[in-house]
Amino acid sequence: MNSEARSNSISALDNVEAIRMIDRGNMEWMISSFPSLLKEAVTLSRGLALPEDYRNIKEIIVCGMGGSAIGGDLFKDLSQSILPLCISVVRDYDLPKYVGESSLVVAVSYSGNTEETLESFKQAYKRGSRIVAIASNGLLEKACSKLKIPFLGVPSGYTPRSALPLLFIPLLKIAEEIGFPLVGEGELVEAQRLVEAYNLSLTPENPLSRNPAKQLAARLHEKLPIIYSMGHLKSVALRYKDQINENAKMRAMCDQLPEANHNEVEAWEKIDFKELLHVVFIDSRFKNPYLAESVNQLVSTIEKEGVGLSIVKPLGETMLEEMLSAIILGDWVSYYLAILRGVDPAPVRLISELKRKHDERIRYSEKFEEWLYKSGEGNKV
Ligand code: F6R
Repeated sequence: MNSEARSNSISALDNVEAIRMIDRGNMEWMISSFPSLLKEAVTLSRGLALPEDYRNIKEIIVCGMGGSAIGGDLFKDLSQSILPLCISVVRDYDLPKYVGESSLVVAVSYSGNTEETLESFKQAYKRGSRIVAIASNGLLEKACSKLKIPFLGVPSGYTPRSALPLLFIPLLKIAEEIGFPLVGEGELVEAQRLVEAYNLSLTPENPLSRNPAKQLAARLHEKLPIIYSMGHLKSVALRYKDQINENAKMRAMCDQLPEANHNEVEAWEKIDFKELLHVVFIDSRFKNPYLAESVNQLVSTIEKEGVGLSIVKPLGETMLEEMLSAIILGDWVSYYLAILRGVDPAPVRLISELKRKHDERIRYSEKFEEWLYKSGEGNKV
């Protein structure tokens, strides 16, 4: 596409009516709801009470897939420098061998029906782990009710990826409930306010000239985004990649520092298709000072090679604020990328088809129901 055609297509980002014609699934509403979902998540979490014997656990394992797993990564990244506790995220069927009676397993599935998460839940139950589940509905809710397992029901009606606040904030409350406070309610409320105000500058009504999300999307249009971050923002880079994949139906890559300096950096020499690449670097005021130096080196290598580069400087005074403000920006960027490609952001046709065909062949939900029917308190079949 020549530069005139490119700038014409980018100016479409200021045509709110045209945007809404493409966004038939109303992802605009779902992303705009992010700040209010944060508020709702704080309120919902207040009602979460866990039994006393949940307090003496050795590790927390968050099980989930895709949009339901990323909240676990945020939780892990945030807790890393605060909690003296091992936290891992399992995106798989099988739990690691070390998960047992001294583990707290948090099963998160927005639909409540994701096969991998149900299987991990079942394994955790059989191993006698303490369990909590978060879902809007589905077999996970049914299983918790039958097996008397603490369950947090969240509102339905969103895509799992846009329900992120409802799936992430309760993890902070769970940590607090078992004796590991991580973020106080005051800090959460402050972060929510910041995101609410920032969100106003990112919505379709706000023109390209004043809208950082439209500007970044314009730079990424028809490019392969390569997203870097570090420290507590590692999972935010993954969130950018996943949101670009699911909303814009576009390929994207992400990597983390300092690890990328030990392998991926080699790919910045003899670069193929350099005009098709655009690097997004999500910076942080909290980065390790040693790391700051290698960040500068990486940035200057990329600049020297003439590859497009954008640096995102998240808003906020706390790690949580940085995370949430960077996420809301990235969610809108993925939205505008979808619009620029003429793609309806909400439906995920291939994911849904894969799940449907897979369930037709494997019939996992029937098997899980059979297991549930035979199981009960004290009966760990
Ligand atoms: C869809 C999405 C997916 C789902 C994943 C697991 O918006 O983000 O990544 O999150 O397929 O499904 P749930 O979240 O229902 O367990």
